[in-house]
Amino acid sequence: MNYAFGVLLLIWTNYSLLLMSKLTLDEFFNYTEFTSLTLAPSNSQSILIQTRHRIWDHNINEYHLHLYSLDGKTKTLLTRHASSLLRPRWQGEWIVYLSGNQSNTIHLYSTRMEQTFSLPLSNESIHAFTLSNTSLYFATRTPWTNETDKAYKDEWNDVIEYRDKERGDTIYRVNLEDINRFQIEILANISLRVVELVCSFDGRRLVFSTESTLQHIESMDDYDVYSIDLTDHSSIVPRRLTNNQRIERNLKWFNNESFLFTVTNEGSINGEYRDTQGRLYSYDFLNGNIHRWADQFTGSIRAYDLLENGQQGLIILGQLNTEIQVYTQQSKSRPLVKKIGWNGTYESIVTTCNDNKSIIAFLHSSFDVPQEVYFVDNIDQLNLAQSITNENKLFKERNLPKGILLYPPDKFEQKNLPLLVLIHGGPYFADLNVFYADWYFCAIMMATEGWLVLQPNYRDSSGYGDEFLYGVRLKMVSRPGKDILFGVDALIRDGIADPRQLAIGGYSYDGYLTNWLITQTTRFNAAIIGAGAIEHVIDWGANDMPKSNAYFLGGYPWQMPTRYQEEAAVFEMNKVKTPTHIVTGGIDVGVPVAESYLLERSLRVLGIPTKLIVFPGQGHELNNNPWHEKIKVREELKWLQKYGHICVSPCEGYLV
Ligand SMILES: *[C@@H]1O[C@H](CO)[C@@H](O)[C@H](O)[C@H]1NC(C)=O
Ligand SMILES: *[C@@H]1O[C@H](CO)[C@@H](O)[C@H](O)[C@H]1NC(C)=O
Ligand SMILES: *[C@@H]1O[C@H](CO)[C@@H](O)[C@H](O)[C@H]1NC(C)=O
Ligand SMILES: *[C@@H]1O[C@H](CO)[C@@H](O)[C@H](O)[C@H]1NC(C)=O
Ligand SMILES: *[C@@H]1O[C@H](CO)[C@@H](O)[C@H](O)[C@H]1NC(C)=O
Ligand SMILES: *[C@@H]1O[C@H](CO)[C@@H](O)[C@H](O)[C@H]1NC(C)=O
Ligand SMILES: *[C@@H]1O[C@H](CO)[C@@H](O)[C@H](O)[C@H]1NC(C)=O
Ligand SMILES: *[C@@H]1O[C@H](CO)[C@@H](O)[C@H](O)[C@H]1NC(C)=O
Ligand SMILES: *[C@@H]1O[C@H](CO)[C@@H](O)[C@H](O)[C@H]1NC(C)=O
Repeated sequence: MNYAFGVLLLIWTNYSLLLMSKLTLDEFFNYTEFTSLTLAPSNSQSILIQTRHRIWDHNINEYHLHLYSLDGKTKTLLTRHASSLLRPRWQGEWIVYLSGNQSNTIHLYSTRMEQTFSLPLSNESIHAFTLSNTSLYFATRTPWTNETDKAYKDEWNDVIEYRDKERGDTIYRVNLEDINRFQIEILANISLRVVELVCSFDGRRLVFSTESTLQHIESMDDYDVYSIDLTDHSSIVPRRLTNNQRIERNLKWFNNESFLFTVTNEGSINGEYRDTQGRLYSYDFLNGNIHRWADQFTGSIRAYDLLENGQQGLIILGQLNTEIQVYTQQSKSRPLVKKIGWNGTYESIVTTCNDNKSIIAFLHSSFDVPQEVYFVDNIDQLNLAQSITNENKLFKERNLPKGILLYPPDKFEQKNLPLLVLIHGGPYFADLNVFYADWYFCAIMMATEGWLVLQPNYRDSSGYGDEFLYGVRLKMVSRPGKDILFGVDALIRDGIADPRQLAIGGYSYDGYLTNWLITQTTRFNAAIIGAGAIEHVIDWGANDMPKSNAYFLGGYPWQMPTRYQEEAAVFEMNKVKTPTHIVTGGIDVGVPVAESYLLERSLRVLGIPTKLIVFPGQGHELNNNPWHEKIKVREELKWLQKYGHICVSPCEGYLV
């Protein structure tokens, strides 16, 4: 390059950076999140995109569904009131979705007639559905029969009969051949709750995955896959296909005789319960065998779809270290091939086939490029993908923080910066080279306000091999806690972080870790905690994943009383000096709300500055009211500003 031109370019680039303003909190919460992508199974010229929007005037989130033409030129609104809970389905001319405020009514949009039909189908919430060429199948809780309903109301006025009140599901079929006279029939009853339903290409079988009626992971027996033979009209009894210690999700048919599924981190397909990373399997109806795909991959499988209707095998999204990249596998015995694409994180990949030509659509982002939807018609030319959306362009016009170790705007690779350690939850999750902006993924906002943000992938994080994941066992807070402090020490040793300006925070499992760490060191001037447990007995007894607590701690409270105590912050609270800000959803069962009250009371008794904010009506996901999200981040920023820069008790710097 010509030298003078280079200098000019440098000046121009720096000048334009100076012109770019910093992101404001309001802008941060204007980020558009893409919540689902859907393509028709064959011959699609458009893609269905669901986005989340915060409606400040009404204290609600809206989920909008738009049909975008693949060339990005036209955009048709189907609804502003889609449900966030169920991904829409698309088969032939029909797109089916639930609305956010009428969960017992199914909406069918005909792409041929460009018209929506609403079918009020049930008195219970519909929580799974699927389409075949001629039918719609859906699952709801088995309705009360008239007599029991009456008896229940008369005898148990507003009483909650915990467990007894729970009912299993009924699966229904609706004939779509005559939309004006649609008929509903009961297909089957099951004592569990149906999570996903999928109908085979030939319309002969239905497979579905299940969960417990309470939606609490207590016994892995409640989590399996079943099938229904739709050609047998005499007696429809669901057949159990799997019987293992694992949670099957993302069911998709591969061909008429086999389907695929991924598993979450919890448990094992074979043998004893032991957590591993996300994996991909297929089930073969011909012999009942289960095969693992991508079995050489050491990271975590996140998503997949068929490539050219399965004729070219599968397209797979795998997380390794801090990236989620695209892979293909022609058949389960062939090797996994990494495709050349952009650095960063691919998500929600969907494919279809137009005249034997693949259409591949996905979300992509990296720490400096906000998320958008892209599509490409050749898997070997991923980096030529075209964007379909441009929802987050504002973020490209702002002076953003930079790096995986996130530096404040204009401070990239500078030294001696105030450090915020922001820990990810899960624990089976990882901080990635990705662009997220919400109340949970708030690193960009914290860095914009001057904090160098470290998001450590401590032991237990996914994407680093199964052994790394196993590190959480029996030392559920102490081992990851040591890893995190090791990272802080390194940043101080290298002169990057200012040892006198350290803060820490996290929500959920990261809250457990933060609670623990402030009992282990007083080096943090401020802590921002959300929904973190400080003991494990009530947490095990009242949360929705007790199986995991028992696994992490090696048994139930009465079997491992010492370990339940050793790994609990509450017994060491007297060592805390760090002013601590706490938030929790008022009806959280992911981490029982009692844990936050316990933390606040302990700190108050000990005279440590503390503040607890409870968001009424919110569960663990804080997804009911956008104001709660904004208030969380706003108040945490204030807390960091107030306490983060002033050392608590002797400023001890390096030592733990
Ligand atoms: C949020 O985004 C919308 C649409 O892109 C825009 O009209 C509005 O001004 C933005 N608000 C803020 C606070 O940036
Ligand atoms: C509920 O959803 C329907 C469309 O499904 C919409 O017309 C209506 O405005 C929504 N009501 C509220 C209160 O959001
Ligand atoms: C809902 O309940 C009402 C009254 O109990 C009943 O008349 C109606 O048929 C039910 N609807 C469905 C779809 O089950
Ligand atoms: C319950 O069913 C009986 C007949 O089976 C009917 O007479 C009665 O009206 C029903 N009650 C309600 C509340 O729907
Ligand atoms: C399912 O249960 C309902 C009552 O809850 C009953 O009317 C129906 O016959 C059952 N159907 C099958 C297929 O078992
Ligand atoms: C359903 O439609 C698709 C494409 O329109 C076709 O390939 C498939 O064979 C049909 N299935 C049945 C059972 O008719
Ligand atoms: C499934 O079977 C249907 C009908 O027999 C056939 O048209 C279709 O091509 C088959 N699909 C696959 C993926 O084998
Ligand atoms: C992508 O990542 C690789 C490996 O981390 C790195 O060497 C390369 O410079 C990155 N490319 C871009 C464009 O950032
Ligand atoms: C698609 O591929 C099949 C088999 O390879 C071939 O028979 C068919 O003609 C192709 N169709 C088009 C539209 O290219």
